[in-house]
Amino acid sequence: MIAMVDLKTQYHALKAEIDKAVLDAIESTQFILGPNVTAFEQETAAYLGAPYAVSCASGTDALHLAILAAGIGPGDEVITSPFTFIATAEAICYAGATPVFVDIDPQTFNLDPALVEAAITPRTKAVIPVHLFGQPANMTPIMAVCEKHNLLLIEDCAQSFGAAVNGKMTGTLGSLGCFSFFPSKNLGCYGDGGLVTCATAELAEQVKVLRNHGSRVRYHHSIIGYNSRLDDIQAAILRVKLKRIDEFNAGRRRVAQLYSELLKDVVSVPFEDGRGVHVYHQYTLLTNKRDVIMARLSEQQISSAVYYPIPLHKQDVFAEAYAGVRLPVAEDVANRCMSLPVYPEMPEESVRLVAETVKGAIVG
Ligand SMILES: Cc1ncc(COP(=O)(O)O)c(C=O)c1O
Repeated sequence: MIAMVDLKTQYHALKAEIDKAVLDAIESTQFILGPNVTAFEQETAAYLGAPYAVSCASGTDALHLAILAAGIGPGDEVITSPFTFIATAEAICYAGATPVFVDIDPQTFNLDPALVEAAITPRTKAVIPVHLFGQPANMTPIMAVCEKHNLLLIEDCAQSFGAAVNGKMTGTLGSLGCFSFFPSKNLGCYGDGGLVTCATAELAEQVKVLRNHGSRVRYHHSIIGYNSRLDDIQAAILRVKLKRIDEFNAGRRRVAQLYSELLKDVVSVPFEDGRGVHVYHQYTLLTNKRDVIMARLSEQQISSAVYYPIPLHKQDVFAEAYAGVRLPVAEDVANRCMSLPVYPEMPEESVRLVAETVKGAIVG
């Protein structure tokens, strides 16, 4: 059996340190906004080179809080990718704003910068590129368009912890960066968790207030906020893993490189645009034989998945509102993409077995 991710092997490798960190956090009884949360925020800001980092309860909340902190609300439009997890668009909707989906680049699956400018209207307030599957979006032209039209740039970094572009970490290129620590993410905790990087002290302060019931001083509430805090226990686990993130990401890249070497003649392997470091949250390829390959993998007890089968404008929740919208690249990619198992500790024999099975399904 080869799973998409193997969290147990990683836990067992770090068990002594993680168990101690968790037990120490429990012993401290400072469960909410305790010392591990503060330390983790500082360590993450330092690792990423971000001026400020404020943790919260999930990646979805990170997006929601960032959008609110940016002052985005009803009547505003936010340009984003249709080829992402629903949370990116959900968070825009939570704030009462409208997602405007712009098609993706067929090679990187990230927002196509050439199409962003044409989608801008007087209501556009922000652009949210997603660094999908761990590959940074094409930020230079996106940043230029945002600057030209005075739009906020909010990065969805849920899948890109540790990915860099133009020598800078994702999450430090816009005004706000939103991270997820869902267990299977490149940096994952043992439950839900998230974090917002902020370019200014004002934005960081706003996210802090929003995540804690609109409160700066206990029992004094200046705005309607949320209960969206990262648990101290989760922060303790994340601190142990943060120290190894480069090693984890190097492990993912090693797996991806071997897959690509073995599969380049039979499928369209992930394209690295050379602008940044791809950290392979997912190894996603394109093929016209997806069903056959997935069936063969499943017969061999090998997991595979389709991220994502339906672009957001075609989802039931959005289908009516976006009925006239055609995004041919996202629609085509959704029909042909599939993802193979990838995790830092994946043994070379497993990578070879998966690749051989994929090849066998295609070649017969
Ligand atoms: C691109 C993207 N954005 C946002 C999220 C939301 O993160 P979370 O599951 O931590 O709420 C995820 C992951 O689940 C994601 O992949």
